[in-house]
Amino acid sequence: DRVVLAYSGGLDTSVILKWLQQTYGCEVVTFTADLGQGEELEPARRKAEMAGVKPEHIFIDDLREEFVADYVFPMMRANALYEGLYLLGTSIARPLIAKRQIEIAKQVGADAVSHGATGKGNDQVRFELGYYALAPDIKVIAPWREWDLNSRTKLIEFAEAHQIPISKDKRGEAPFSTDANLLHTSSEGRVLEDPWEEVPDYVYSRTVNPEDAPDQAETITIDFERGDGVALNGEACSPATLLAKLNELGRRHGIGRLDLVENRFVGMKSRGMYETPGGTIYALAHRGIEQITLDRGAAHLKDELAPRYAELVYNGFWFSPEREMLQAAVDHSQAKVTGTVRLKLYKGNVIVTGRKSPHSLYSEKVVTFEDDQGAYDQRDAAGFIKLNALRLRLLGRRDR
Ligand code: ARG
Ligand code: SIN
Repeated sequence: DRVVLAYSGGLDTSVILKWLQQTYGCEVVTFTADLGQGEELEPARRKAEMAGVKPEHIFIDDLREEFVADYVFPMMRANALYEGLYLLGTSIARPLIAKRQIEIAKQVGADAVSHGATGKGNDQVRFELGYYALAPDIKVIAPWREWDLNSRTKLIEFAEAHQIPISKDKRGEAPFSTDANLLHTSSEGRVLEDPWEEVPDYVYSRTVNPEDAPDQAETITIDFERGDGVALNGEACSPATLLAKLNELGRRHGIGRLDLVENRFVGMKSRGMYETPGGTIYALAHRGIEQITLDRGAAHLKDELAPRYAELVYNGFWFSPEREMLQAAVDHSQAKVTGTVRLKLYKGNVIVTGRKSPHSLYSEKVVTFEDDQGAYDQRDAAGFIKLNALRLRLLGRRDR
């Protein structure tokens, strides 16, 4: 039989590739996704060939546009933040990888899929909920939950015994584990495990230290159409291009660093460090355009739904009816979320400095403290307050 492996070409998934061939005696098909992790992917092809994978069974796909347009942007429309802070950079990539893996499995007639996530984390849940939602009868092989290579040393011994190339820095204890894509880089484990110890400088890979960022602020504009970013500084760009350009700006200004202790779905707390440079700018800009284009009722309902939406994405329920219901509501709310946001980037900060929209609900005429020429009758407020106060007064008379 055949198994489709989500294969990065790194040490862990190279060991898994060999282990699958040995343990299950099966034909392994590799799938490597370009999600903008900024790594060369051709080495993965060579390594897979060296491990005996047939050329027609090596899949390397550029999923960057699909990732941003169909996963990151829909999530950003919802203003999703897990536990108030995490922009879900790893969580949101998993359903796309799972979806493509299942497509490949169907194409090559594989009856199983496999991944390199451990048995202690969220990623195993996200991959596998995706697999089962899209292919209910698929067989899942999660080597980390099965094998006895439960230490770095054993993994390296296995690699050496099977001529799997090991880069120098992997020989020693790798100092931490990372996951990267166009939206973020996450780092967890080892040197980060003590939540009191400050994250060492060398862990950061895609932002300058805010202290070292330019002393000169930089001002940019982002145009939105129906809740999605469509242009930077007036220049139209595709979703993935826009996010890549914002990443570059965020990097330069030290934006989007987050040191977080979070609750994993499997029950434990874990400490991680995230760098989400472009996503941090984008999320605030989206809030900026919603400020003038969304009605209060719609906006506040969105704010109630956002944590639910975030939890679904975090827990791996992207392909679920409840996520799709929330998405429909969120997308409906974005019909008039069109316009331009101006932002200032300065030493780790993103500050909205202006917003405008052809659909703005903001009325200077109504809000002004100057003569509003009858746009708003201040005498109306007296009755408004009196009726709202009625029950408070009844309570006050009884209890005070
Ligand atoms: N804790 C993050 C999440 O669950 C990131 C997990 C993957 N990160 C990693 N360094 N392997 O979304
Ligand atoms: C892993 O366990 O493979 C990474 C961490 C996580 O998924 O939460």
